[in-house]
Amino acid sequence: MKLTLRLILAGIAVISFLFAYCFYLLFLDLGFSDEDLDPPPPRIFEHKLCVVVPYRDRAQELAEFSPHMGKFLHEQNVKYHIIIVNQTDSFRFNRASLINIGWNEADRLGCDYMVMNDVDLLPVNPEVPYDFPGVGVIRHITSPQYHPKYHYEKFIGGILMLTLVDYKRLNGMSNKYWGWGLEDDEFYLRIVDSKLNLTRVSGLTTNSSNTFRHIHGPKRKRDYVSKKNDLKQWKIKRERDRISGLENVRYTINSRSILDFSGVTVTVIHVTLYCDLTWTPYCIS
Ligand SMILES: *[C@@H]1O[C@H](CO)[C@@H](O)[C@H](O)[C@H]1NC(C)=O
Ligand SMILES: *[C@@H]1O[C@H](CO)[C@@H](O)[C@H](O)[C@H]1NC(C)=O
Ligand SMILES: *[C@@H]1O[C@H](CO)[C@@H](O)[C@H](O)[C@H]1NC(C)=O
Repeated sequence: MKLTLRLILAGIAVISFLFAYCFYLLFLDLGFSDEDLDPPPPRIFEHKLCVVVPYRDRAQELAEFSPHMGKFLHEQNVKYHIIIVNQTDSFRFNRASLINIGWNEADRLGCDYMVMNDVDLLPVNPEVPYDFPGVGVIRHITSPQYHPKYHYEKFIGGILMLTLVDYKRLNGMSNKYWGWGLEDDEFYLRIVDSKLNLTRVSGLTTNSSNTFRHIHGPKRKRDYVSKKNDLKQWKIKRERDRISGLENVRYTINSRSILDFSGVTVTVIHVTLYCDLTWTPYCIS
């Protein structure tokens, strides 16, 4: 009786061992390894920044801006694409429309956030944040306390960052600003109306003299309109624009080119803007 029990137990042990061994072989055969049985690591979504640069005839600044910006963003581990929107028509410069066009290009390139960055303003303090600001947040990078020149409270010019989704929600910027200035003040009103969060960069260890560098190319006269010279235009530019923006910016892309500045590549899109002469006759200077 005892012997029979022992034999049965031994039999069970042998059979169990064989089963385990078979499973082991089966696993080897199917190519399973320990790693395969762990849950896969979570997929990290990578944000991508498009730097949108409204541009016309600033070759010297561009040659300084591009390698600087590339290095600056690389050191912050930001995945980026630099887009130069080159206005090739002979109308007055329209910074806001060029930025609207830059949005379309940024969307095409798969960026999820953008920064509008003039070609002559370089961030020099590595603490200046160019990482993803978050949806619903508009980050004014050249906040009044750090901008080399403009310190008024409602100022949002210079360098401004936001997601593509939020830019679209604001219908971008007004297309009526031909010539220098005020398009950013109108954009400020869009932001206030939208109730998006406007945050200003703060807490840096630098100040207005050493956070950004303003590069000065050849001296140029600003294409500015005074109240005295053109009262009608002066007035129009101070009105809130509820009809134009990203949705209806009209232009043609003539061509695209890729430029290389010491290993930093930038995309240049050469555009011709359309001007509605009945609405903004002052697009011709
Ligand atoms: C911008 O367009 C003008 C006119 O077509 C051209 O001469 C100039 O080289 C372009 N700028 C850049 C940076 O490609
Ligand atoms: C804006 O910021 C406030 C306070 O930080 C927060 O409570 C609110 O949810 C934010 N709104 C948006 C649209 O992100
Ligand atoms: C800014 O900081 C630098 C270096 O700390 C200092 O030399 C300079 O005086 C400061 N400038 C202003 C405008 O505060």
